[in-house]
Amino acid sequence: MKILAIETSCDETAIAVLEIKKTRSGGQKFSILSNKIASQIKIHAPFGGVVPNLAKREHQKNLPVLLRRVLKETGMHTPPSPPLLRGGLVENFPSFTRRGKGEVNKIIKPDVVAITNGPGLEPALWMGITFAKELVAKWRVPLIAINHLEGHIYASWLEGAPKFPLLALIVSGGHTELVLMKKHLDYKVLGETLDDAAGEAFDKVARMLKLPYPGGPEISKLAEKGEGGKGLFPRPMINSPDLNFSFSGLKTAVLYYLRDYPNANKSAVAYEFQEAVVDVLIAKTKKALEKYKVKSLVVGGGVAANKKLRASLEKLISDKFPDISLFLSPLWLTGDNAAMIAAAAYFKAKKKKFANPKNLKADGNLRLN
Ligand code: KG4
Ligand code: ZN
Repeated sequence: MKILAIETSCDETAIAVLEIKKTRSGGQKFSILSNKIASQIKIHAPFGGVVPNLAKREHQKNLPVLLRRVLKETGMHTPPSPPLLRGGLVENFPSFTRRGKGEVNKIIKPDVVAITNGPGLEPALWMGITFAKELVAKWRVPLIAINHLEGHIYASWLEGAPKFPLLALIVSGGHTELVLMKKHLDYKVLGETLDDAAGEAFDKVARMLKLPYPGGPEISKLAEKGEGGKGLFPRPMINSPDLNFSFSGLKTAVLYYLRDYPNANKSAVAYEFQEAVVDVLIAKTKKALEKYKVKSLVVGGGVAANKKLRASLEKLISDKFPDISLFLSPLWLTGDNAAMIAAAAYFKAKKKKFANPKNLKADGNLRLN
């Protein structure tokens, strides 16, 4: 089976084709045949964050360009559009409409098209959805709608085979969530951020430190040069009995610190801030692993690229939960991409959970359960 997936929820336009082959043991082997991403970082950077309407315009511009590249790389093509005359189709045009289904079947095409329908920026999501609807109409293939967060979780299946029940930690620019999965596509949100997401806090603190957008990688680089361990900043909700997070107080603490110490060493501040975020993420993940007996821990989302977080998660598992397998999203799949959307879509395709192209809508606040 081949799945062509499209992702436009934020500031990356992405299209990928994933080939899935069943293995004798009842599992599946994924091969990414094409994986294209057009990043809009340069366009949004001067504004210090993503501007929804600019994102929409860029998606509109980039989608056909990426599609052409993906089709070329995979040998697929869309049916030729029949040129229209006043009275209808051109008489001798080899139109798929006139010849019926057989003609369409000769077209090399994916078996399914998958699209992210939320959460994210609605104008951006709509661009992808409209584009995907046009493709399924041309190809006459089913459409699958994927929640962006399930994509981040399923990125780990592209290079591994997590076992259920599992705990997923999603850490991105818009979300910080701990999710329990007893089987495929079955999500129970155990805890989430009550205010800012972890990545958002990285981006906001980076702005305070006059670092470019997106701030996560910048802070992480700067922190490598810094040192600390003074515990300058609070660890919000670290001892709360629930599995929720809060990062806005931490961000404010950094703001006040920089106001009081304008000449503070930037790398030390970056280091201390990163320590505080990682401490909280680790403490809550540990609490969830103690409470729920799982076989795997899956970690995904942009912040999962953070070296300090990756090392701390590895240490947590090897020290405290040696029986649990850790699946850190492969580094090149932590940020937004369409291969992860295709991976999630495979499990929906298996269950024939198709979306109706007539009424599929973008939902900026789409939840996992
Ligand atoms: O998953 P993602 O690409 O987009 C969303 O779904 O939001 O995540 C983007 C977030 C940004 O906030 C970015 O600053 C953060 O991931 N990020 C990092 C690192 N690389 C990206 N945060 C901390 N350390 C990193 N190395
Ligand atoms: Zn994301």
